[in-house]
Amino acid sequence: MAAKKHKPLGIAIVGCGTVGGATAALLTTDRNIIESKVTVPMELRYIVDVDFSHAREMGLDESLFTDSIDAPIGDADVQVIVELVGGVTFAKDVVEKALRAGKHVVTANKALLAYHGAELYALARENGVCIAFEASCAGGIPIIRPMNEGLAANRIDAMFGIVNGTCNFILTEMISKNKSYADSLADAQRDGLAEADPTLDVSGGDSAHKLAIMASLAFGKKIDFEKIPLAGIDTLELCDIGYGETLGYVIKLLAIAERQDDGVSLRVRPAFISKEHPLAWVSGPFNAVSVYGHATGHTMYYGRGAGAKPTASAVVADIISIGIGTAQRSFELLNIWADRCEPANQLAIDEVQSRYYMRITCADEPGVLAQIAAILGKHNISITSLLQHESPQSAATTVPVIITTDKAREGNVRKALAEIDALDVIKAESVCIGIVEEYPEEL
Ligand code: HSE
Repeated sequence: MAAKKHKPLGIAIVGCGTVGGATAALLTTDRNIIESKVTVPMELRYIVDVDFSHAREMGLDESLFTDSIDAPIGDADVQVIVELVGGVTFAKDVVEKALRAGKHVVTANKALLAYHGAELYALARENGVCIAFEASCAGGIPIIRPMNEGLAANRIDAMFGIVNGTCNFILTEMISKNKSYADSLADAQRDGLAEADPTLDVSGGDSAHKLAIMASLAFGKKIDFEKIPLAGIDTLELCDIGYGETLGYVIKLLAIAERQDDGVSLRVRPAFISKEHPLAWVSGPFNAVSVYGHATGHTMYYGRGAGAKPTASAVVADIISIGIGTAQRSFELLNIWADRCEPANQLAIDEVQSRYYMRITCADEPGVLAQIAAILGKHNISITSLLQHESPQSAATTVPVIITTDKAREGNVRKALAEIDALDVIKAESVCIGIVEEYPEEL
């Protein structure tokens, strides 16, 4: 039997850059794909921007262009405003204006939600509308839906994400081509795979925005973005990648969220994982998120975390979800949204329990290792492996000693390394990188 005809869903896209343009194309040029699946017609009514050069290059319908947000806000036939402006100032104004006008909002803006999610969800609720944000985390990978719905029967215990394609691309170049961080970044910028100003990506900030959003849904808690400890890939040295490889590890920028007895531990940092770890083969610009539920065990979501079409795919999925009513029901009936949750007890970085890799630059003389081992022992840190190559005949006066440890408290590791680095026989600041083992399933 033919499906009943529905009133079209009126849509306005605000911001016609890379993702905005691709979203408009999916809704117009590729509309037959959506029409073959969805009984509610999707009607793009406005493209709002001040510069339409990209929209024109894409051949988008000029009759849709307007430079005023007031046009769709005042149009009773627009039900959805798609915010693709980015940033947390003008974008926030657009979202608030849309919500106050009773329009649903779809956004890809991770920074906006990481900082202001709870407040915006509350505003949406006051106005009887919803916010959908599948595109905010990991681009084209449907990762928000599993958190909200697919894994709804689970207590989620942990999540490990490679959620920044720029960083994963740079690290893959460093590993596979033995290129320095600076050279790998320069090549990524030349090929359009890194921004001209890559700070937000390489500092770990972008990954932390995504972690804040995903962890809030996973744990059903409000997350304070400012309390997420961050370390980026911009200080990584090639030699550590090489030593790690000798020990059977690859380096990844990981966004980590773990439930612990007394709270949750969230952090973003470069970490070594075993070459056998399921995240180890995620290379180039790809993203992946591993989620551990008490009932499902390990599930993993993989795909392109950025780029015009993959991100637009997630944006349009949200628009369709609003069109068929799923997003509104989920926003109304689930208790996991930050405006309905208690703040998480976010554990300080010193409380983290992890294994560690250390590179200690020592004078090549008797008794040095004994001093290092004594300090580690005093701080309850157990050594699991130790690697030192013979100095060449030409007699280097310093030598790197690579130590891996058993699980230890990060606070103890920091104190121990501060003491080690204060020894006369230590000739450079030590390097310390966490080693993340595969999370144990509870099945
Ligand atoms: N710049 C991000 C990345 C995509 O490189 O993955 C948008 O968050």
